[in-house]
Amino acid sequence: MRTIDWVDGRIIAIDQTLLPDALTTLRIDTVDQLVDAIRRLAIRGAPALGVAGALGVALAARGGGDVRAEAARLRVARPTAVNLAWGVERVLARLDEGVDAVVAEAVHVLEEDVRRNRELGLRGARWLVDRLGGPVNVHTHCNAGALACVEWGTALGVVRALRDADALGHVYVDETRPLLQGSRLTAWELARMGVAHTVVVDSAGPTVIARGLADVVVVGADRIAANGDVVNKIGTYPLALAAARAGVPFVVAAPESTIDPATPDGASVEIEVRDPAEVVGDRPTAALNYAFDVTPADLVTAIITDERIISGKPLG
Ligand code: MRU
Repeated sequence: MRTIDWVDGRIIAIDQTLLPDALTTLRIDTVDQLVDAIRRLAIRGAPALGVAGALGVALAARGGGDVRAEAARLRVARPTAVNLAWGVERVLARLDEGVDAVVAEAVHVLEEDVRRNRELGLRGARWLVDRLGGPVNVHTHCNAGALACVEWGTALGVVRALRDADALGHVYVDETRPLLQGSRLTAWELARMGVAHTVVVDSAGPTVIARGLADVVVVGADRIAANGDVVNKIGTYPLALAAARAGVPFVVAAPESTIDPATPDGASVEIEVRDPAEVVGDRPTAALNYAFDVTPADLVTAIITDERIISGKPLG
């Protein structure tokens, strides 16, 4: 089943807020509904947001309202993952050609996501096996799986390809506070894939790495700046620091659409700050709920995309 799809002129998407307890889908007919689904993380993960942006413009075009105004609202539904604006802009560029051209381009973005992530996963697995042999034990963070894309996944796409090549050892994933994308979504996906895995609390990630339980850290990304700084789910940076200290490779798996040449460095990226209630509930406690962090380029061993491998520092 696809995480997000275009069926009979509307968006059908898995409601990720309900997983792993319930696997249900949302029917989305308007940009307002889509913006709401994105803001409450029913649809989430950078590549899925790119596809949502593309399909949202198709919804707007079919709705017959002010497409550019609706696209502008959709574009900023969440600020950090560059894919959302990328998907919106790519389809909006076809607006003058009429509704059919807009819908065709949006569906093309959807199909392309599947193909590109498969290529990325295969390239990443080959690269790791060439360098590390097998079985490869992986530490990952947040959810960069099929649920963050249309199918297949980015970081978990690499894991999937390692499994298919019989070169996968154990997978460790941290909970990913406060919304638990790791323990809810990634653990659910790994179980369905039949992959041996263990969940640890976020603060245990560096210890998993320091103790040699993981041969590599593989994560996704929400935006990669021109200088190679990687913006990803909060908690990624401590894993990169721990990996550098332990001499373990830190690998980023992301489609080309996540690379943002217009943003010079990580410091220039707007980091989403979410509702403190996600951290402290209704207790009257101040909470600063950063949703993403910046991993400096010099901590990144390699960025694997659907088209190339960008190598940073040498393997440890
Ligand atoms: O807040 P989320 O769940 O949308 O954050 C998702 C992440 O940070 C993922 O790691 C990232 O989008 C890469 S997904 C292939």
